Amino acid sequence: MNSSKRRSKRLPRPVERGARSAAGAGLKKPRTEKAETIHSTRGGVAHLLVERVKELSALHRTVRLMQDNVKPVSSVLREIVSLIPPAWQYPEVTEACLTVDGMRFPTAGFRRTAWIQRADFTTPDGRRGKLEVVYRAKRPPESEGPFLAEERDLINSLADSCASYLTRRRAEEELLVAHERLQALSKQSMRLQEQERRQLALDLHDEIGQAFTTLKVNLQAIQRTTDSTRQTASLNDSFMIIDQTVARVRDMALDLRPSMLDDFGLASAVRWYVGKQGERAGIRTEVDSVAIPRGLSPDALVACFRIVQEGVTNILRHAKASRMAVTLRPIKKGVKLVIEDDGIGFSPNEVLRVSGERSHLGLIGIQERIRAFNGQFEISSEKRKGTKLSAMIPFDEAV
Ligand SMILES: Nc1ncnc2c1ncn2[C@@H]1O[C@H](COP(=O)(O)OP(=O)(O)O)[C@@H](O)[C@H]1O
Ligand SMILES: [Mg+2]
Repeated sequence: MNSSKRRSKRLPRPVERGARSAAGAGLKKPRTEKAETIHSTRGGVAHLLVERVKELSALHRTVRLMQDNVKPVSSVLREIVSLIPPAWQYPEVTEACLTVDGMRFPTAGFRRTAWIQRADFTTPDGRRGKLEVVYRAKRPPESEGPFLAEERDLINSLADSCASYLTRRRAEEELLVAHERLQALSKQSMRLQEQERRQLALDLHDEIGQAFTTLKVNLQAIQRTTDSTRQTASLNDSFMIIDQTVARVRDMALDLRPSMLDDFGLASAVRWYVGKQGERAGIRTEVDSVAIPRGLSPDALVACFRIVQEGVTNILRHAKASRMAVTLRPIKKGVKLVIEDDGIGFSPNEVLRVSGERSHLGLIGIQERIRAFNGQFEISSEKRKGTKLSAMIPFDEAV
């Protein structure tokens, strides 16, 4: 609005050729009455028109460049900068430079001079940038030093467009990364499902099948003999096999789906699982697992349990820890889960940066599960000092 006011009040500027040659010769051309009469000539109007067309076509080409989602961001920015000099009133002395995110895109002859026009911008995610246009040589005075009011509008528009463009490209990149993560997770989950089925088939065939075969042999022995000592021995052996098989079937069922979650609740299931794993691995284990009154959907309960399973498995598999501690507590907004160890530590940033196919997706799986419930997740880990994994899953209003 301002600019259009300015434009309508502003007198037309000197005929292009005259103005340029005067400036080119290093002379300052005074804006005399006479010169102003020339402005209103047809040549002056034509010049104004040419300037507006140049500005519009720079804007148009910038918009088209910014629609390209395939070209690298740096190439697009470099091309945008190259569109600037022809759009300004004196292309032969105009240079431009875009600076953003620690990157700089100058035209070939860019250097800071006394004749500089600048527009700063900040993207919504806080990246700061600036667009600078300079004249390498003096030119007659206009609304802003040697620059036109329209050129101020143009540099501002270009800076705004750069900010929008950078924001959009970053969002697209993030979307792509998220998509890759989900794809990798879904592949991993299918692979795991197949692995679990294979393991289940093996367990059923080898362990349970074997147990029944032995039981059958024992029963046949009992049927064939009348010797009560041999019968008792076979019966005792059979009872032992039945006990082992019942325990094995319970373990298998719990691995597949922790029914304790339904029967005894999350806190007991966590206590039982962490205790059992710690005992098996022979490391000092502390569990502080407080009953969750309500507020978690069945899916969220399973998610919490799976997070504990993955965190504890990681400790036993990777941490070389002498101690692990798991805390599960209701807090104001949801459930807080902390899984800590005093082991060798690692670099979470490297592990959480996924690209393409990869097989280690436990922590990323945790992150995605928590994201699905709008929760919070944090890992801090230091080499030789251990790892602390904290998660918060908010209560569901509907539960
Ligand atoms: N508690 C831990 N202590 C030390 N290293 C860990 C711990 N948890 C995870 N890591 C490291 O992070 C990597 C990725 O873990 P994860 O995503 O669960 O995949 P996976 O367990 O299949 O390797 C592990 O390979 C390991 O190097
Ligand atoms: Mg793991």
